[in-house]
Amino acid sequence: MTMPIASVALPSGETVPALGQGTWMMGETAARRADEVRALQTGLDLGLTLIDTAEMYADGGAEAVTGEAIAGRRDAVFLVSKVLPSHASRAATIAACEQSLKRLGTDRLDLYLLHWRGGTPLEETLAGFAALQEAGKIRHWGVSNFDADDMDELLAAGGGAVATNQVLYNLTRRGIEHDLLPWSAKHNVPVMAYSPIEQGRLASHRELLRIAQTHGATPAQIALAFVLSRPCVIAIPKSGRAAHVRDNAGAAGIELTAADFKALDAAFPPPRRKRPLEMI
Ligand SMILES: NC(=O)c1ccc[n+]([C@@H]2O[C@H](COP(=O)([O-])OP(=O)(O)OC[C@H]3O[C@@H](n4cnc5c(N)ncnc54)[C@H](OP(=O)(O)O)[C@@H]3O)[C@@H](O)[C@H]2O)c1
Repeated sequence: MTMPIASVALPSGETVPALGQGTWMMGETAARRADEVRALQTGLDLGLTLIDTAEMYADGGAEAVTGEAIAGRRDAVFLVSKVLPSHASRAATIAACEQSLKRLGTDRLDLYLLHWRGGTPLEETLAGFAALQEAGKIRHWGVSNFDADDMDELLAAGGGAVATNQVLYNLTRRGIEHDLLPWSAKHNVPVMAYSPIEQGRLASHRELLRIAQTHGATPAQIALAFVLSRPCVIAIPKSGRAAHVRDNAGAAGIELTAADFKALDAAFPPPRRKRPLEMI
C-alpha cells in the first residue's frame, strides 16, 4: 500500500515531500548502477519525489545515476544538487551548475545548495545563484552545513531568500534542537535532515528495534519517523536497494506515541546546551 507522504512548505509557499531520497555513495561502481537506478525509481513511484545529489558524490557519478533514474519523468521530481565550496565564486558556481545539469540530463534544478561554507565571501555565491535563477537554470537556492550564526551572516549578506539549510540530524545527532531548529522555525527556513539513519547505523539499534516491534515496523522506520515528527524538517535517507526504499517509504505511516518519544529521549538525550553543528 502506498503511504501518503506529508509535505513541507518552502518559504515561497511551494510544497515538497517531507521524505525524499539521498544519493551519496551512488555512482561509485558500475556493478551497483542498475540497482541504484531501480531504487530511486521505486522511491519516485512511492512518492519520494525529492532527490538530493551533489557534484561531489562519486565526482558527478551520483548525478549521472540520478539523471538516468529521472529520465522521462523530470517534471515529477523536485531535484536538489550542490556546489562545492571550491566552486563557490560567482563564475565557478555558474559553471559547476551547468556541468551538473549536463550530468543530470535536465535544463534546471529545483534547488541548488552551497555544500558547506568555505573561504569564498557569501556575496559571491549569492551572485552566482542570482544569475542562475535569472537564466532559469535553478528555481530556488539554499545552503548546507550552516550553523545558526552562519545563517545570521547569510541574512546579513543579502541571503534572505534562502529556501533551506541541509544539515546532519538524526536521533544520535540532536544538537540542532537547541538553537538551529528554533532559528529555522523563527525564520521560516525548512531544515533538510541528512544521514537520518546515521548512515545505516540506526537500522540495528537495540532500543529502536524494541520500539519498532511494538509498531510492526523496522528500526530504520522508527529513526525516520522521529525525524519526520519534527515540524518543517525534510528527511533524505539514501538507499541503493529497492527493498530498503520501500521500508523507508513506510516510515511515513508511523505515528510515534508519547511513550515512544519518552523512550527515545532516554536513549538519545536531547541537547541541554549549545553544541557546535556536526558534519559528516
Ligand atoms: N550536505 C551534506 O553535507 C550531506 C552529508 C551527508 C549526506 N548528505 C545527503 O543525505 C543523504 C542521506 O545521508 P547518508 O547517505 O549519509 O545516510 P543515511 O541515509 O542515514 O543512511 C544511508 C545508509 O543506510 C542504509 N539504509 C538505508 N535505508 C535502510 C533501511 N531501510 N534499512 C537498513 N539500512 C538502510 C543504506 O544502505 P543501502 O544503500 O544498502 O540501503 C546506506 O548505507 C545522502 O545520501 C546525501 O544525499 C548530505
